[in-house]
Amino acid sequence: MALNVVILAAGKGTRMKSDLPKVLHKVAERPMVQHVIDTARALGAEKPQLVYGYGAEALKVAMGEQPLHWVLQAEQLGTGHAVAQANPNIADDDTVLVLYGDVPLTRLETLQQLLAVKPANGLAILTVNLANPSGYGRIMRDGENNSGKVVGIVEQKDANATQLLISEVNSGIMALPGKQLKAWLGKLSNSNAQGEYYLTDVIAMAHRDGVEIATAQPQDAMEVEGANNRVQLAALERAYQQRKAQELMLSGANLRDPARLDIRGTVEVGNDVMIDINVIFEGTVVLGKGVSIGANCILKDCTIGDNTEIKPNSMIEQATVGSDCSVGPYARLRPDSVMLDDSHVGNFVEMKKTTLGKGSKANHLTYLGDAVIGSKVNVGAGTITCNYDGANKFVTTIHDGAFIGSNSSLVAPVTVGVNATVGAGSVLTRDAGDGELVVARAKQRHIEGWQRPVKIKK
Ligand code: UD1
Ligand code: CA
Repeated sequence: MALNVVILAAGKGTRMKSDLPKVLHKVAERPMVQHVIDTARALGAEKPQLVYGYGAEALKVAMGEQPLHWVLQAEQLGTGHAVAQANPNIADDDTVLVLYGDVPLTRLETLQQLLAVKPANGLAILTVNLANPSGYGRIMRDGENNSGKVVGIVEQKDANATQLLISEVNSGIMALPGKQLKAWLGKLSNSNAQGEYYLTDVIAMAHRDGVEIATAQPQDAMEVEGANNRVQLAALERAYQQRKAQELMLSGANLRDPARLDIRGTVEVGNDVMIDINVIFEGTVVLGKGVSIGANCILKDCTIGDNTEIKPNSMIEQATVGSDCSVGPYARLRPDSVMLDDSHVGNFVEMKKTTLGKGSKANHLTYLGDAVIGSKVNVGAGTITCNYDGANKFVTTIHDGAFIGSNSSLVAPVTVGVNATVGAGSVLTRDAGDGELVVARAKQRHIEGWQRPVKIKK
């Protein structure tokens, strides 16, 4: 038995009022359909079938090279018709799992549960009980009070008054046996209220054929919610973020407010991490033990060592920060910035492609680009590495123990030697030797009896 996942993603999503096909709208910076594909892959479906129609070009660009069976549904004639387009890729002994490109929050465990309850050669449907079931297909069961075996699904628009009272609804997600599914799909008709080929009609066929039908339920209703408009999309985003925040807290992070945190990627945390409000994590972020992140920080693809403090309003991207460091407030670490243990970067300091050595400090108003800085270096306020001559970039090297006086410009390529001192306000165009004091600025002059200009009389 092979798992054959069919993802329906042909709809336009008119209510999104967008040029993008609906399934490309994003939750946590990832297209909704990508969430679904990732879950399918985690289930073991290496090459899910993607039933597409509207916005094919945009969809193909967004999905890139990943392994997918692309299945065109040229006209959207209903969910049954959509699945039928995937028939050529369905083997008789496949278990077909139908998912939806606009339902991104289904948990892996929920789908594993659905597949676990599915009888051999039988069906399993993911259902939910809703206080307001309006709009959904209702699960019809035999026996007292609709409590027996599943006998069919009736769509809202085709349901009678009694059926409309049923609170158990079809999520749309179901697992079916390949061989029978293909036979049933061949028998669908579109003589119903919407003139569509309903996938849900196969349930009654299965029941008539004596095929067993099981059901499973998700942990929460958001797992089966789709987004038809941007209000619902925002609700999915919040639900996703709430889930991520919970995971983070359970893995040892203290969130000042779980509702004011956004995770658009993965975050790994050590014990006793403290995260203040309005922090955004993107890509892959790793935070060591005891790290604290101040309010309004954005961290993307970075690693922060144990007990380091990132102070408010800092931005860190593709950077590695060691242990016991201090960053910010208002610091910006750009790609390929490396801060070794015990180093400090303070307010209004920007780093790019620069390594700041152990115990070194750049505490105020500084730009360090394309620089290699040793240990125990003090970079004074207002220091600038002039790394760019308008055409090419050059490296500034500052060796261990050097002291760069405030407001210095280091014109690269240039090297400051071990324990060298650069006088404040210097424009350094030639190397400073080990242990030297270099003062590269105009000498101070004293002009006595200097007359200030006076206003010219008219
Ligand atoms: C469907 C179910 C309903 C269930 C509900 C859950 C059917 C007939 N009904 O109703 O029982 O309660 O989902 O949300 O299946 N799609 C295609 N091609 C098509 C038609 C649809 O790709 O030809 C895609 C749509 O883009 C959409 C999804 O399938 O993402 C569901 O289709 P939609 O027409 O919205 O079904 P519902 O009326 O919501
Ligand atoms: Ca729908």
